[in-house]
Amino acid sequence: MRSLILLAGTAVAAGLVLSSVSANAMTVGFSQIGSESGWRAAETSVTKQEAEKRGIDLKFADAQQKQENQIKAIRSFIAQGVDAILLAPVVATGWDSVLEEAKEADIPVVLLDRQIDAPEDLYLTAVTSDQTYEGKVAGDWLVKDVGDKECNVVELQGTTGSSPAINRKKGFEQAIAGHDNIKIVRSQTGDFTRTKGKEVMESFIKAEDGGKNICALYAHNDDMAVGAIQAIKEAGLKPGTDIKVVSIDAVPDIFQAMANGEANATVELTPNMAGPAFDALDAYLKDKKEPAKWIQTESKLYTPADEPMKVYEEKKGLGY
Ligand code: AHR
Repeated sequence: MRSLILLAGTAVAAGLVLSSVSANAMTVGFSQIGSESGWRAAETSVTKQEAEKRGIDLKFADAQQKQENQIKAIRSFIAQGVDAILLAPVVATGWDSVLEEAKEADIPVVLLDRQIDAPEDLYLTAVTSDQTYEGKVAGDWLVKDVGDKECNVVELQGTTGSSPAINRKKGFEQAIAGHDNIKIVRSQTGDFTRTKGKEVMESFIKAEDGGKNICALYAHNDDMAVGAIQAIKEAGLKPGTDIKVVSIDAVPDIFQAMANGEANATVELTPNMAGPAFDALDAYLKDKKEPAKWIQTESKLYTPADEPMKVYEEKKGLGY
């Protein structure tokens, strides 16, 4: 079993409270997935801020959602002789060869926000949430909210083959298992983007009697939920009332939607994965201190009872 450290999400989300220990002018390559969501934008800007605060020379590569670009970036970081690599892996499989190359070059790799299917000795640690648990929190919220009522759910999945898409689906299904009144009637990828979230929701509405057959939307991230909310409104229905909306990330716009009565629940994912990653790298590079294989961030449920406009104001300047 993996050893694990749990980080307090709210403090971490603020991005300001973790140690600002100098990492001895480390050079770190960061292979980022792209900019598919507000959460991703925040992770990128928090990572840059954390690096600057610690005097780290951060080499940033945007992979535009393509694994092949991430593999090229990692090879380029290895050729440049960086001290360490941060990798936010777009999909879960296909990393073994390039990570073996990093290992041979003695360059530690830290995974950010997504897990991979690869032997654990190929990376130093993974800073991620428990994505199955996130899905379970979303599903538990729905189970409680609908009670005994019949409820047809439509699901917008994240990027196919990515660990959050796989695990958030699994966790939600675990939560609704045994509640026969709740059924997932349609499930399709929206690739974690607003545009696709809206497009796919339009097709769900069309296929389900203009949306009348849909009781709730479960979206694997808030951006897809925000796109879907637009589709629901354009279909003449009330998001949050006619169709309940539950999603994951806790980006500012979902709090705005909650304040407007158009979204019902979100599960927070901190964008500060880099702070704990740099701390682990610092301890490892200076003192060869092996971190836990999984540094787990917190997953907190928010609903309209949590003063959504206050949270919106707190989060809106954080790079989302
Ligand atoms: O891996 C984390 C997920 O990636 C976020 O929940 C989503 O918004 C992003 O695209």
